[in-house]
Amino acid sequence: MKHVTHIQDLGPEGVEAVLAQAAAWKFKGPSQPLFPGSILGMVFFNPSLRTRTSFEAVMLRGGGNAIILDVGAGVWKLEHREGAVMNADRAEHLKEAAPVLSRFVDMLGVRTFSQGGGDEEDEVDPIIGAFRKWATVPVVSMESAREHPCQGLADVLTLRETFGSTKKLPVTLTWAPHIKPLPKAVPNSFLLSAAAAGCEVRVAHPPGFELHPAVRAEAEAYAKATGGSVTYTHDQDEALAGSRAVYAKSWGPSAAAAYSPNDVTALLASYSGWMPTLRTMSRAAKDAAFLHCLPVRRNVEVADEVLDHKSSRVVDEAGNRYHVQRALLHWMRSHSR
Ligand code: CP
Repeated sequence: MKHVTHIQDLGPEGVEAVLAQAAAWKFKGPSQPLFPGSILGMVFFNPSLRTRTSFEAVMLRGGGNAIILDVGAGVWKLEHREGAVMNADRAEHLKEAAPVLSRFVDMLGVRTFSQGGGDEEDEVDPIIGAFRKWATVPVVSMESAREHPCQGLADVLTLRETFGSTKKLPVTLTWAPHIKPLPKAVPNSFLLSAAAAGCEVRVAHPPGFELHPAVRAEAEAYAKATGGSVTYTHDQDEALAGSRAVYAKSWGPSAAAAYSPNDVTALLASYSGWMPTLRTMSRAAKDAAFLHCLPVRRNVEVADEVLDHKSSRVVDEAGNRYHVQRALLHWMRSHSR
């Protein structure tokens, strides 16, 4: 049984295999339906637009089906902590819920954002870990505390479609402002996927917004294996120089627990100058593409003039979620037999 909840479950070889299949089927679809009679169970602890529709579309167009469960909205609230005394609002434990769901579906997708317990807890990724432990069918991440691997794969597919190859492609992952501290799953996944695809990744963020050392070490290992590289700077312009792609994403401070809600809002506001504008894009290469995972808060996180510019690939990038997920579910099934 093959779970894919982190890029590590694929490694650079798996990333290549999934991306190659996704690109091939995007050009000329599979000769027959891929998932006839199969059901994907989709468990959402958090909202979604792209992930929900793209996974469901993959199953429906592939001859299968999807069952969507919104935790706490028509479905029992779920406990994941072993040994928990369940005397609050979580009425069902994942020890039962995951194997029970596994009796009815062929694969399980799970979306579970960071619980806000800090970077160390996100590194453990406790809820997706509980699904991995207790499910008896393959589990695919639809974004968890540490990573959003399907987003990372779609990002790299978009880079390859734009530039032909990602080998040593200079790309900047830049922090962007927001009204509240966001999880690090998306920046982590872009960093890991781009490093696994051989990019020259520059990460730019204000001081105090470092990504977790274990994520950085993993990215370093992928870059070493693929001939890519990873560098970090607090200077956005330095990172942008010569970059062929600008990937903007907001994330919260490394020591989020040290701040009161008001302090963290003030901290984020103090870096409003990091919002990508056309001036920001002019610091990158002439043909630079702009990427963002969406949803995006216009004129807070990214300026209208960037999102509406011809260099923006954000809609194609979202569309690629379908293509990488179709290839990924097929890869997981063929590695689970
Ligand atoms: N990028 C992404 O995962 O979008 P949703 O949150 O809408 O699924």
